Amino acid sequence: MTVKTSAIAHSNIALIKYWGRSRDHDPNLNIPSNDSVSMTKYGLTDDIHLQTHTTIAFSDNYQEDTANLDGAVLTGRNMDRILRVVDPLRKHAGVDAKFKMMSSNDFPTQAGLASSSSGFAALAIATVHALGIDFTKEDISKYARLGSGSAARSIHGGFVYWNKGSSHETSFAQQICGPDEFDINAVIAIVHEGTKEVTSDVGHKSAHTSPFDGVRIRKSQEQAKEIRKAILDHDFAKVGKIAEENCKYMHAVMMTSTPPLFYWSPETLRLIRSTQEMRREGLECYFTIDAGPNVHYFCRPEDTLELQKTLEKIEGVRKTILVKPANDSQVIKKHLF
Ligand code: DP6
Repeated sequence: MTVKTSAIAHSNIALIKYWGRSRDHDPNLNIPSNDSVSMTKYGLTDDIHLQTHTTIAFSDNYQEDTANLDGAVLTGRNMDRILRVVDPLRKHAGVDAKFKMMSSNDFPTQAGLASSSSGFAALAIATVHALGIDFTKEDISKYARLGSGSAARSIHGGFVYWNKGSSHETSFAQQICGPDEFDINAVIAIVHEGTKEVTSDVGHKSAHTSPFDGVRIRKSQEQAKEIRKAILDHDFAKVGKIAEENCKYMHAVMMTSTPPLFYWSPETLRLIRSTQEMRREGLECYFTIDAGPNVHYFCRPEDTLELQKTLEKIEGVRKTILVKPANDSQVIKKHLF
């Protein structure tokens, strides 16, 4: 017997960051030390929708589990992370069959844009449906989390709240509101097109060594609740300000961890400093930066093109990608094999 399902999922950008896992739980469960909040992203530039398309099939005819991403066979740590999602679902469904998985990103995996959030969300959705498991989106979010924490949030579209919880069963993401319910766009300023120098996994493990970690966790808990309210109140300025603050807290922890992590490049700092000037000129925008040098700017939808033009003039910006909130990730009919 063979069953096959495909799904697409979008990556997300965190407004309140997940950085560091709870040290009271098995680190493989990816239970975070604080709640986090994100916007699921739909790319509007050059057919880059910031989405992953994944097909998975289970068959008694397969001799072994295989996985392929953009034409490359996945082994080692990459395959282990896939098994962390698929194995417990296979067990839950009482299925022994091996799987074949193929996945493709519609953006270059090397482009410095997080691909694991969309990748593991698409994998979890496709696997749950292929195995015929009757799960809610919140349940699927728990299994996406096992591959990559941020993937827990990419199950939903729009604006998403990941409650840290205190166990595998209670740590999952829920939608705050849909993509059309809060008017905000983003422009990504790409200054470096490469993979991360230090993986987030390394940072999650060392975050607690920063003397500022406790403060960041406490502030993030408060800010997660504040920003959820600001999103529901359609308060763009408040959302932007909180997101920018929270990003700086995370980078302060990164820079003061042992060993220290400096993800910014000189171009990143140039962009940060230009933000003040852009705002003084009347272009209201707020930045956030993940574990890399590229900068996401939030703006009102009517300001998107002006923001893009302004960013493209800044030295060191190689490319910009326009982004709006994405729909839910979902099962699709088109298979990759
Ligand atoms: C800085 O462990 O989810 O993006 O390395 O892509 O699997 P991957 O990341 P993950 O950590 C995400 C860290 C972050 C902040 C965030 O998305 O909340």
